Amino acid sequence: MKTVDRLRKEFQVDAISFSETNDEIINIEVNNKYAKACICLQGAQILDWTPVNQKPVIWMSADALFRKNKSVRGGVPVCWPWFGDHVSNPAFPAHGYVRNNTWELKKTETLPDGSTRLLFIFPENDEFKAYWPYKMKIELHVTIGEKLQIVLKTENLSDGDVTLTEALHTYFNISHIKNISVNGLNGCQYLDKLDGYSVKEQQDNILVKEEVDRIYINTPDEVCIYDSGYKRNILINKSESLSTIVWNPWKVKSDLMGDMGDDGYLGMVCVETANAASNAVNLSAGQVHEMSVEYKVECL
Ligand code: BG6
Repeated sequence: MKTVDRLRKEFQVDAISFSETNDEIINIEVNNKYAKACICLQGAQILDWTPVNQKPVIWMSADALFRKNKSVRGGVPVCWPWFGDHVSNPAFPAHGYVRNNTWELKKTETLPDGSTRLLFIFPENDEFKAYWPYKMKIELHVTIGEKLQIVLKTENLSDGDVTLTEALHTYFNISHIKNISVNGLNGCQYLDKLDGYSVKEQQDNILVKEEVDRIYINTPDEVCIYDSGYKRNILINKSESLSTIVWNPWKVKSDLMGDMGDDGYLGMVCVETANAASNAVNLSAGQVHEMSVEYKVECL
């Protein structure tokens, strides 16, 4: 039986349906009383979350490529077990291994309030072991409701300590980059990737007027994207995450990337819930760590 048919048989409930691209990439569509959403089995990457009567909250590039083992440009890529380049081997895939590979859907559930919850696990495989020789259990819990809740759960099943970095690399859909500010990081220190990782301090709310690529460290749990064009705040509330990455590639880098779409950078900003740089997570044997985030729209 084809995987997509098996998934339909096992997990299809009223709010959930499955589709498959020509390249055998399987998408899971959720449509409940709160929102519609789409999650790709490859990377367990959320591609869409659009609450009822709202513009999409998650940005997807108009030129996104849906290819095997390639992260889709937009959505919520899951970067694990390293964020950015691998610390000692630049030949390893950027942003870790799991964002480009297929996860397994383990459970779907309708919660008492009508929200839909999906549980994904990342299966062990030999290729991954070559990159990451530790025994770990990795789960992604996604709840689609009035809020979008994402929990990335890691359990260290190996005998010793393991250090990792990670990010929920969310691309947010905004009315226009000139209409937004990222609020809540005032006074935080950041590593400026565009200036040799030099350490700087954020003064005031963040306005994006050029390429920005920053790892904010020791950040508070609440951050907000204020959008005067869509007359809304996107409220971001995280836990067990000490870093926040703010990224916009601007025009020159977007053109080089080739999958950002024409002027796509003007309609997106990445605000990533992460543990990166000096906020790397150290897990002792048997320890469980749950980095999570909730997104909510507040109309203005
Ligand atoms: C951001 C990084 O998180 O992701 C940037 O800070 C990087 O440096 C960006 O360019 C996109 O990465 P990728 O691998 O998806 O092109």
